[in-house]
Amino acid sequence: MAQRGAIVTGVDFSSEAIRTATALATELGRNERASFIECNVYDTLDHLPDTGCYDLVYVTWGCIGWLPDVTKWAAVVTACLKPGGVLYLADGHPSALVFDDCVTGTPGKPGWFVPYFEREPLELDETQDYSNAGATLKNSRVYAWMHGLGEIASALMDQGLEIRALRHQTATGPHSGASVSSECPLRAVRFKLLAYSPHGSEPPLGLHAS
Ligand SMILES: C[S@@+](CC[C@H](N)C(=O)[O-])C[C@H]1O[C@@H](n2cnc3c(N)ncnc32)[C@H](O)[C@@H]1O
Repeated sequence: MAQRGAIVTGVDFSSEAIRTATALATELGRNERASFIECNVYDTLDHLPDTGCYDLVYVTWGCIGWLPDVTKWAAVVTACLKPGGVLYLADGHPSALVFDDCVTGTPGKPGWFVPYFEREPLELDETQDYSNAGATLKNSRVYAWMHGLGEIASALMDQGLEIRALRHQTATGPHSGASVSSECPLRAVRFKLLAYSPHGSEPPLGLHAS
């Protein structure tokens, strides 16, 4: 986005992710347009010079499932946006976690992974990294949360955002979670959502959720 002229601020609580993003922005000659904040996303507002002024909050691929509290996240998103600003959210569809076609169920049917309405955190031990098949992780315990689409949409609407687009897709291409989707096609479902902060005039940036 910085390459297309936007002034962007990235947030992640991983110092490694922030280092890599900063190095990439520098390499591309975009460090005047791109800055990065190392913090928990829930604390974002404490680190921004100003709130209620962003055209776009862009949240994609593999973000929602790490957050225990979607309501709190939706409040942070809404507080960042200017009137008429947009949340663009694209992520794995929660239903993709329900079935597990890597595990055999009843003959001819997939196995189960997580109930759609699971409220407790999922405790997973994964020694492999999807972005580097050769890596073995020392800290393999991860916690993730199942957030249904209704929960996500309601959290955003409760903050006053207007959902104007919600699409389902099967995942193909670079952000499909390629290793997961080739081995487990039932996991290869994703969704895209556009939500607008009210009281704006024109939607910025001509965004589409296609
Ligand atoms: C799967 S990666 C996202 C990858 C990225 N969206 C992409 O498409 O390449 C999830 C990221 O969320 C970050 N993360 C997870 N929980 C967080 C939190 N509570 N606050 C800030 N960052 C968080 C992780 O450090 C990690 O960089």
